[in-house]
Amino acid sequence: MTKKSSETSRSQNALELLKSDHEQVKKLFSKFEKLDKEDEDAKRELVEQICNQLTVHAEIEEELFYPALRDVLDEQDILDEAQVEHDMAKQLIGDLESMEPDEDLYDAKVTVLGEYVKHHVEEEEKEVFAKAKKAQLDLDTIGADMLERKQELMGEMGMDTGEEEMPDTQHIKQKSSKKPARHPRA
Ligand SMILES: [Fe+2]
Ligand SMILES: [Fe+2]
Repeated sequence: MTKKSSETSRSQNALELLKSDHEQVKKLFSKFEKLDKEDEDAKRELVEQICNQLTVHAEIEEELFYPALRDVLDEQDILDEAQVEHDMAKQLIGDLESMEPDEDLYDAKVTVLGEYVKHHVEEEEKEVFAKAKKAQLDLDTIGADMLERKQELMGEMGMDTGEEEMPDTQHIKQKSSKKPARHPRA
């Protein structure tokens, strides 16, 4: 029997959303570990996915989650450290984005990025999330805002937003087909 919980399944609070991002990217890193390193196309594709996901994730944290926490925490060290860790990860992401998969330090950079991310995620989930819970942030609203921003960024970056698409969709930036709402004249 499947349980229906239409309200809770539709929206994740901020911590649930971030945690599921963490799980997803961790899976991608372990996929990389097992990947045939000679298969350059597979490597390129997977690393692009990792870099894109991390970029979007860092962005929604920096735009929405960290500032909300900064507002309510006296002690800012933990968020300063998280920001420095993001910056270090971004440096590696930038390197990887400009590299070819057959270059010497490519695999090592992916591995080290994975280690940074693992460490960062552990601290985030243990310490930052605990503070967020204690601070009684409005995690539902922040979660909804982050989800909206996440989808927007993924769209801008041409990423698969998880909705089923035609397999032959071309890699052409598509503008939203939403028509602007017309207001009937009064
Ligand atoms: Fe995170
Ligand atoms: Fe983070």
